[in-house]
Amino acid sequence: LDIFTERKNSSGINLATTISRDTFMDAIKQFDDTRWTATPILNGESVNAGASHEVFSPYDNTQQVGDVWEADAALATQAIDIAEAFRTEWQQTAVSERAAIIAKLGDLLEDNRDELVALCQREAGKTIQDCIDEIREAVDFCRYYATQANERLVLPTVMPGPTGESNELFFEAKGIFVCISPWNFPLAIYLGQIVAALVSGNVVIAKPAETTALIAHRAAELLFEAGLPAGAMQFLPGSGAELGAVINADSRINGVVFTGSNKTAKMINLTLANRDDDAGLATLIAETGGLNAMLVDSTALPEQVAKDVVHSAFSSAGQRCSALRVLYVQSDIADRVIELVKGMMDEMKIGNPTNISTDVGPVIDKNAKAGLVNYIETMKSKAKSVYQVAIPDDCANGTFVAPTLLEIGSIKEMEAEQFGPILHVVRYNAGEIDQVVEDINSKKYGLTFGIHTRNTSLFQDVAKKIKVGNVYINRNQIGAVVGVNPFGGCGLSGTGPKAGGPNYLLRFVTEKTITNNT
Ligand code: NAD
Ligand code: ALA
Repeated sequence: LDIFTERKNSSGINLATTISRDTFMDAIKQFDDTRWTATPILNGESVNAGASHEVFSPYDNTQQVGDVWEADAALATQAIDIAEAFRTEWQQTAVSERAAIIAKLGDLLEDNRDELVALCQREAGKTIQDCIDEIREAVDFCRYYATQANERLVLPTVMPGPTGESNELFFEAKGIFVCISPWNFPLAIYLGQIVAALVSGNVVIAKPAETTALIAHRAAELLFEAGLPAGAMQFLPGSGAELGAVINADSRINGVVFTGSNKTAKMINLTLANRDDDAGLATLIAETGGLNAMLVDSTALPEQVAKDVVHSAFSSAGQRCSALRVLYVQSDIADRVIELVKGMMDEMKIGNPTNISTDVGPVIDKNAKAGLVNYIETMKSKAKSVYQVAIPDDCANGTFVAPTLLEIGSIKEMEAEQFGPILHVVRYNAGEIDQVVEDINSKKYGLTFGIHTRNTSLFQDVAKKIKVGNVYINRNQIGAVVGVNPFGGCGLSGTGPKAGGPNYLLRFVTEKTITNNT
């Protein structure tokens, strides 16, 4: 398959057939005793001189997954020195050559899929299906951005001008891009950012999330194996606050692509704004959280709604930025929908994600669990009703949070995103839809929104009025597919670029016009 002319999304594995499922489960089992290591990588070399810590699995805190050596402020400055020395060479490397390396990474990810699934599962606690989807999405980002670079960044656009004068518009890399990623898509978002920056001609400083440095390191190794020159990417695992304060304050940085919480995005913005006077204005691409709502009117099909609600709210233990947080359901069908949702919640299997039948695994760590449990406890006295699914006894060694449904009066009662398996439900009456939309917009988040209705003019109207990046009609609202559902929010949810969309790479370049009257 020539990916440059016939790009197709990666096909993953069909777990529904016994043969492929059993073969796959045996293949990932061979990594049961593997211990992975992450170190900073500077100029292609591992550096393990700094502080280190052991990593344990979120579903079993007695199971060690590996060890991480952290980068410190001195290494961060050294990384920028190396990046600065290589930026021109990488920028001048042909787009086709850069794209071939990124496409090769896609192949290597597929070749190493079994190990990456095992590692993703043990380090991030994701279910098997989520891990398979994670690798697929990472592969898709590589192939999509490689194709896009070849199609869109290569030739100049010729502009009309007076006779005798030529005008051409070129794309040029911005220079040094810092890539800061979250733990909830430890491979897909981490690599999506990096390959977009690299294929556009930028050199990269990669700062993965603290909790998922092992898989990030393994992916960095594969990137070098794919042929990436040592100067093109420096890998810095470690504290976001400590490293961010050094890297983002450096006047040599030209851009930051960040995915994570809104609070951190604002801190990065502040650091960039306070740089020395000699620093240019750096680009900030920020993809942050959401207070994502779904609106269901009385014409919707309750069974379909319940399925999509449960999938959108509780998949990945609710740890998706796109996840449904607030379900608005018209009073006429609310009892029926809520009853079905509760029934499906009772059917969800909570537990160890290495078990193929598990639907909901752990949350990422003790801090995340404590914050969510604390929120649920507070809401027990504030919510109109609370419904929870019991956590099985054999989950005692992991950071599990009981999937919870809270009935409240309005989204306006919510202050912040709760990043876990918590669904809020609000009943509304016929004739109140404009008010509902206004209330949702008033929170100023703008990531995903779902609507279930058979009233075409209603969904057309609401889709126009709702201020979000991604609207989903009569389906679930998670799992955006690369090259199919360009993904990203506005307002408090981000600066707007669409990952996996045709315009994403343009955020990583500047434009140069050459007017020639020779
Ligand atoms: P986070 O903001 O705590 O951390 C994200 C990254 O920022 C990590 O690598 C962290 O080390 C780093 N960081 C922390 N402080 C920093 C600082 N002062 N300077 C520079 N870097 C710093 O977020 P998280 O808990 O890892 O991720 C969950 C959040 O990410 C949720 O809010 C979720 O909605 C959001 N998210 C958004 C998208 C999207 O596409 N919009 C996708 C996934 C996750
Ligand atoms: N792209 C991810 C989703 O849509 C965040 O769920």
